Amino acid sequence: MLSSFWHWYVVIITVFTILASLWLLRWTKGISNRDKDNETGSTGHVWDEDLVELNNPLPRWWLQLFYITIIFAFVYMFLFGGLGNIGGYLGWSQEGQYEAEMNAAAEVEEAIFSRYREMDNETLMADAEANATGQRLFANNCSMCHGSDARGARGFPNLRDDDWLYGDSFDTVMQSITDGRQGAMPVLVGHLDDNAISDLVVYVQSLSGQKADAAMAANGKQTFDMFCVACHMPDGSGNQALGAPRLNDDIWLYGGEPEAIRTTLIQGRNGNMPAYKDLLSEDRRRLLAAYVLSLSK
Ligand code: HEC
Ligand code: HEC
Repeated sequence: MLSSFWHWYVVIITVFTILASLWLLRWTKGISNRDKDNETGSTGHVWDEDLVELNNPLPRWWLQLFYITIIFAFVYMFLFGGLGNIGGYLGWSQEGQYEAEMNAAAEVEEAIFSRYREMDNETLMADAEANATGQRLFANNCSMCHGSDARGARGFPNLRDDDWLYGDSFDTVMQSITDGRQGAMPVLVGHLDDNAISDLVVYVQSLSGQKADAAMAANGKQTFDMFCVACHMPDGSGNQALGAPRLNDDIWLYGGEPEAIRTTLIQGRNGNMPAYKDLLSEDRRRLLAAYVLSLSK
């Protein structure tokens, strides 16, 4: 709805323009009448010696077309509205049309989703049609980060494998999608000297079975036990409640090369999975969770 200033602004300009057009039409007619006395009807403008501009009245049919457009304007405004906030007789409005179209779409959707709503999670994960819809939803909403094949990329977890930051129960995956996730790997080594950090990097490498210098790793373990076990556990198996990745396997979110591990330690990491609560309906999020889980199961 328009504020009362803009309402009157529109009303006055619209009515004035129409009335002004009407007046203009009548005025031009007036001119031609006035010139009736002038036998030739000439305006007095002459070009190329004998090319004379005449001032004849508009043809009647043409003039009437103009009147018809004015009548049309009034009929249109009466039926559909157009004068600021004054609604039309037919009750049409942009909002109304938008809502009607949205409702129609919702009805079609309801028919599709009500079938899925009756299925339990296991059945949904195994349903080919549901997964095809899930795949389309994934391509539109998730693939820019997780990849169109859901294999992820550096910083964006692979959703096809059996390694989960937060867990693979249906409810957990649903929660990841609904509320999003904020991974928080703090910077804890700021006060350590470079050798101590190198030792720690070597120890993290050794956890995942990479070749590592035993003496350096032993030093690194002491630092690890002091600063890291609270989240990554003493054996490096991680903590799904915190989204702290398992470090004793060869699956990496940010990379397992010494340089990548060092960057993780020095800069910290803050993976951000957006929340889809307000972006996708619960039906859609459930189809996505089922699709994602069907990839690894
Ligand atoms: C802007 C990039 C981005 C988009 C878009 C995105 N994600 Fe994520 N997602 C992430 C990141 C980053 C993480 C890891 C968060 C962390 O580091 O703690 C994640 C984590 C997840 C997890 C948890 C994985 C685990 O191992 O526990 C699931 C499940 C998931 N995303 C599904 C989806 C789905 C489904 C969509 C589409 C609706 C989606 N994501 C869209 C970036 C994104
Ligand atoms: C407060 C909990 C917490 C502590 C303490 C912590 N981390 Fe982390 N760590 C995390 C989280 C959460 C992530 C995942 C970050 C993300 O999802 O963006 C992570 C990620 C990592 C990664 C990246 C793993 C990968 O797959 O790429 C490494 C390596 C790592 N941490 C090592 C350490 C070391 C070494 C320490 C001790 C100095 C440590 N972390 C202390 C929570 C913690």
